[in-house]
Amino acid sequence: MSRPYVAFEGIEGAGKSTVAGRVGSRLERDGHRVLRVREPGGTAVGESIRSILLSHELEPAPWTEALLFAAARAQLASAIIGPALDAGTWVLSDRSVYSSLAYQGAGRALGIDAVRGVNEPGLLGVWPSLVILLAVDPAEGLARQSVGDRIGDEGVEFQQAVADGFAGAAASDPGRFVIIDASAPLDDVVDAAYREIRDRW
Ligand code: TYD
Repeated sequence: MSRPYVAFEGIEGAGKSTVAGRVGSRLERDGHRVLRVREPGGTAVGESIRSILLSHELEPAPWTEALLFAAARAQLASAIIGPALDAGTWVLSDRSVYSSLAYQGAGRALGIDAVRGVNEPGLLGVWPSLVILLAVDPAEGLARQSVGDRIGDEGVEFQQAVADGFAGAAASDPGRFVIIDASAPLDDVVDAAYREIRDRW
């Protein structure tokens, strides 16, 4: 059976962090050991890379950006997620490699396959077995967002391209993805996400 590595994905303002936090607490109450991580970040190396990526002062070129996300992710996979899964811990992640496919592959138009190609080697098979895609209209998502980072501030057209990237990834791998309408009341979104996870493991 696949290992319980669940990624919460979506565009800005979809509510990933809130939903992942509440689902994690429910799984813990059920008696599971749960580790929550976020991307980019989650390790000292990853948090340093995160500050480069999200800074408004620095302007990495599109491929620099894609490679930095891949580098932060490789560190998280080898130092944290892989060992946690090996130890029987459940991993809930706020974003994952699929954010790179959607944001850099589709949003920055670097190409989904090319971005996948620079991510795969560093992940050593540590890949989400379930992706919970929280779907929200781009304009509504941006309106929900209070303070934006450099990438989150790209505007509604960029968010639409990213949303299309996520939708394409979900359509081409339906067994791995669950799409939940994130404009529904929060309790319903949390319930739906929790049930999807509980039914799988
Ligand atoms: P973060 O502060 O974690 O915001 P959010 O709540 O939206 O997750 O910022 C992460 C930003 O980086 C967000 O704008 C999405 C972007 N991102 C990418 O462009 N590619 C990636 O691979 C990842 C993980 C994030």
